[in-house]
Amino acid sequence: MKAMTLENAYAQVFAGMTRQGPGSVSSTRKALSLLPSLVDGTVLDLGCGTGASTLVLAAELGRPVLASDVNPASLDAVNARAAEAGLTGRVTTVTASMDAVDQPADSAALIWSEGAVFTVGVETALKHWHPILKTGGIAAFSDLCWFGAERPTDALAFYDDVYPAMKGVEALLAATFASGYRLHAVFTQPDSDWWDEYLAQVVKAVERNRADPDPYVQRVIAICDRELDVMSRFGWALGYAFVIAQKV
Ligand SMILES: C[S@@+](CC[C@H](N)C(=O)[O-])C[C@H]1O[C@@H](n2cnc3c(N)ncnc32)[C@H](O)[C@@H]1O
Repeated sequence: MKAMTLENAYAQVFAGMTRQGPGSVSSTRKALSLLPSLVDGTVLDLGCGTGASTLVLAAELGRPVLASDVNPASLDAVNARAAEAGLTGRVTTVTASMDAVDQPADSAALIWSEGAVFTVGVETALKHWHPILKTGGIAAFSDLCWFGAERPTDALAFYDDVYPAMKGVEALLAATFASGYRLHAVFTQPDSDWWDEYLAQVVKAVERNRADPDPYVQRVIAICDRELDVMSRFGWALGYAFVIAQKV
């Protein structure tokens, strides 16, 4: 049996969730609609989870998509979902960290990542992707941000624990520029991307696992309970920004 770690506990609790972070098909499509025309080259979906965005990219872009994540069980789900959607030939998967993607320099037209750059930090991710992208290539990613100047105490305490590098939107854009990109477009994702698409699944996942005595599983459950509480009281102060940036 695999030794339990916090990462494995997340994989257990979130298993079967079709979306592993806030987002929606309509936000993915909106971001796609804002892309400039793509140069030739590969399309990567990094930190793809169980493939929520991968399936949309593969269906809408008409190019093969290489999807990767550190969790191999999630990639099994991506492959199964791609097969079910008739997209098998368009999606390949590889287990990799998004800051150690083994791709040739100057090869990618588009690097996509929804709700996952926080795992390595936005600057680390963007700097690693920069040489892989072709000139004019696009990095499209969503990241959790503070929307205004207010940082409600309980929300700040929670995100200091789970995402201490969380920034305001302006600071996120400044980090993007400093990593060698210019802004093509940015938008904030609607509340329904949290509540209808993601947290509704989290509530069910937590209840499925609440009786599991494993201390790591209990930690994940405690984090999810806090997230639900913080979002229900302070959702106005924070959310996801979708950034579309072009390599310069
Ligand atoms: C919040 S989920 C988002 C997943 C997916 N993009 C979605 O929207 O459903 C974050 C994902 O990042 C993955 N992850 C964690 N560390 C990673 C890393 N270093 N490199 C790539 N992915 C990572 C997790 O396994 C998880 O699938």
